[in-house]
Amino acid sequence: MLLQNNNYIIGVDGGGTKTVAALANLKGKILAKSKTGPSHFIKAGLEETILNITEVIEKVMALLTSSQKREIVSTFVGLTAIEENKEMGQKIKKLLSQQPKISGIFKGKVIVGSDQIVAFRSGTDEKEGVVLISGAGCAAHGWRGKKEAKTSGWGYFNDEGSGFWIGQEAYRAVYKDLDERGPKTLITKLVFRKLKLKNIEDLKKKVFNECYKVLKNGRFMAINIGTVVSNDGMKFIVGDFVNKCREVGFNFRKDIIWHKPRGTTKWQRGATQFSQKPYPLMFNTNINHEFILIFQKGETPNIDFSKMPKFNRPFIRETAYSVWDIKPVTSPKKDEKHVAPFPVELPRKLIQLFTCKGDTVLDPFAGSGTTNKAARELGRKSIAIELSEKYCKLIEKKIESVKFDSFDKEKIYNSSPEYELKILKEKVDKSYNDYLKIKKEYEKKLRKTSQKPLFK
Ligand SMILES: C[S@@+](CC[C@H](N)C(=O)[O-])C[C@H]1O[C@@H](n2cnc3c(N)ncnc32)[C@H](O)[C@@H]1O
Repeated sequence: MLLQNNNYIIGVDGGGTKTVAALANLKGKILAKSKTGPSHFIKAGLEETILNITEVIEKVMALLTSSQKREIVSTFVGLTAIEENKEMGQKIKKLLSQQPKISGIFKGKVIVGSDQIVAFRSGTDEKEGVVLISGAGCAAHGWRGKKEAKTSGWGYFNDEGSGFWIGQEAYRAVYKDLDERGPKTLITKLVFRKLKLKNIEDLKKKVFNECYKVLKNGRFMAINIGTVVSNDGMKFIVGDFVNKCREVGFNFRKDIIWHKPRGTTKWQRGATQFSQKPYPLMFNTNINHEFILIFQKGETPNIDFSKMPKFNRPFIRETAYSVWDIKPVTSPKKDEKHVAPFPVELPRKLIQLFTCKGDTVLDPFAGSGTTNKAARELGRKSIAIELSEKYCKLIEKKIESVKFDSFDKEKIYNSSPEYELKILKEKVDKSYNDYLKIKKEYEKKLRKTSQKPLFK
């Protein structure tokens, strides 16, 4: 092709927050610029990525007449994360070629490549050199002779020096400072100033505020918390949480007690002291319950319940009391190691009771991702927010291991008499096994005494 000064080229630079494009002639004169939303395919999703790139190219092409549009000789689309996902680059190119609004660019050469090349070329026309990018992610890429080398660029979670990584490190330092697990740091003061927080109580409110913002009107938030913290004496924290949440606008609806059956929790210091000094006034307890606080944003909207499946009677009987018996996780599976994972029954019940199929569930302190696992099993989408990179990997693994909508629906919806009988039979079997276990223990103790058995 004979290149002429009235031929045109388009350059696109797409990232996690925006996509920009420029149209230039071959003298290098920029004729039009435009900007749209993100085109980081991992963050924005493939569909939004294609829409934004198409729109940004269409906008700069709008300056050209139809005959000039045929003179676009080359388009380079530089995108984040393509360096490590070359196949995705090919896929994006194919999808762009199917967009009628920008089909004209495919009469010329189109390359979907790495934003690292864009960054390098924007600084120099030299063949050799090094580019260091520190944005949402971070990467270094260099060329010398026939050699090429890269470091980082693993994704913003792992790129040391990325904006994301710096933010995470700053938050870690702040929380360590507040917990007195780390040194006092000026960063705490700066973060508090930036977020307009006066003290740590305001910080808690900030979390609830964010939850309030993203929650749909009429929908619910459930908080699981313990009963007391010891901080300059014992403090009952339930009231604190209720007050904070009400201050940000939530309506407090109810509290549920998560009861961990006897024998499923360890003996705690207070109760051990009581057993060592078993006198009046020395009483202390093993705490084997936690709270689940239920809040609602606004009021329940008018909903046509007629098309929804009904819960069956066993499920209603099991959940309609304010104390739920659920065994805690005492020994998490080796590959699911987390300091305090939920038993999956806990988020499962809450998701069943407070969301509908297809809804999105958010856990802002996702830990090992039990809530996300339960949501996926129940046919809900979910979002996990977790500070620790180690746990983020755990969450990914956990989610991958379960099938969407795979949880046995019969357990809560089917209400045939046969099904109820089946549930009752399971209960009888369980009670009978418990009975045998206790009887065995009783007989063992009995053998050590001269008493006669109370029953055969
Ligand atoms: C009690 S655990 C949650 C366990 C979770 N329910 C499960 O089943 O595995 C609380 C989690 O919150 C995380 N975390 C603490 N502060 C956080 C923050 N500011 N942002 C995101 N996650 C945070 C901790 O790393 C921890 O994994």
